[in-house]
Amino acid sequence: MYYISISQGINNYFRSELLNTFYSMKNILVIGAAGQIGTDLTMELRRRFGNDNVIASDIKSPSEMVLNSGPFTKVDVLDKVGLEKIVAKYKITEIYHLAAILSGNAEKAPRRSWDINMEGLFNVLDVVKEKNLDKVFWPSSIAVFGPSTPRTNTPQDTVMDPNTVYGISKQAGERWCEYYFEKYGVDVRSLRYPGLISYSADAGGGTTDYAVEIFYDAIKIKKYESFLKEDTALPMMFMEDAINATIGIMEADKDLVKIRSSYNIAGISFDPQTIAKEIKNHISEFEITYKPDFRQKIADSWPQSIDESKANEDWRWEAKFGLKEMCDIMLREVEKKIKK
Ligand code: NAD
Ligand code: SER
Repeated sequence: MYYISISQGINNYFRSELLNTFYSMKNILVIGAAGQIGTDLTMELRRRFGNDNVIASDIKSPSEMVLNSGPFTKVDVLDKVGLEKIVAKYKITEIYHLAAILSGNAEKAPRRSWDINMEGLFNVLDVVKEKNLDKVFWPSSIAVFGPSTPRTNTPQDTVMDPNTVYGISKQAGERWCEYYFEKYGVDVRSLRYPGLISYSADAGGGTTDYAVEIFYDAIKIKKYESFLKEDTALPMMFMEDAINATIGIMEADKDLVKIRSSYNIAGISFDPQTIAKEIKNHISEFEITYKPDFRQKIADSWPQSIDESKANEDWRWEAKFGLKEMCDIMLREVEKKIKK
């Protein structure tokens, strides 16, 4: 017994030393950690790589779970010197840059949104380049496509004529990411996220937000007024899939990441009447009505479904969640949250 516990002690010591060595190789900065994706991404990165190795940052305070589980620092991505100080202080080796103004909100403040989306990206790419960081993740969006893009099974390479400030900034961002990879060797990795559906944080002012809001109203008041028409199909994805894709592409061998602009990923395609029907299977009194607003025009210019075969082939991406699984989890988790 005595010898076993000594050897266990030694094993435990070496295991924790090994973990420390492994963790200390990676110090991650998440910019935009208070947002819809940043909240879940920070928590998952902390679970995988250690709480102290994942530095959350944002211009606003994050959720309590992000705040209480590891380091948080305020940063404005437009302040490059501030960004450099954080990178030096925490010996950052890689960045997930999520700070942006989303499609709906960007239309209300075009120039300011362009500055945040583009200058922010330049600051991050330049810091990664100048400080020789290992790699950087930056998300693009289905908003890079436009009215002339084929709308079903939209290919990786196709016509792109975005007509929103947000979409134009994402398309330009993709070109710059590729440029920084080609010209400076910056290891940029990127996904064109579909609309993301989650319960940890609110959606951030996009055109796909109806598919998050609907769960809150369904549980609270048994009805929802959709700002998109009943048959407006869009590609959507459950957050757990999006987080797995994000960490998946960042952890993939460098040689497997062949596209350095941004990869299509598909998720689930559905329209408001279809998700409403699925919710009705759980809440029979639930009713949906439709009152399209300015976001209808944006949605009409985006794809209805996406071809993600390049991501499947190159770095073996595969989504797990269908509409039913996603609705089951959303209804359960949103109800828990509301009852708290
Ligand atoms: P969000 O609006 O929920 O979060 C963005 C975060 O960035 C916010 O917490 C905000 O405070 C922060 N931020 C804004 N300006 C900043 C600044 N100047 N400096 C530092 N932080 C700043 O957005 P999200 O849904 O989490 O999106 C994250 C990224 O993913 C964005 O690039 C977005 O375009 C992209 N994306 C999101 C979706 C989606 O459905 N959520 C889909 C496609 C792409
Ligand atoms: N969900 C995002 C938006 O609607 C898509 O990039 O803006």
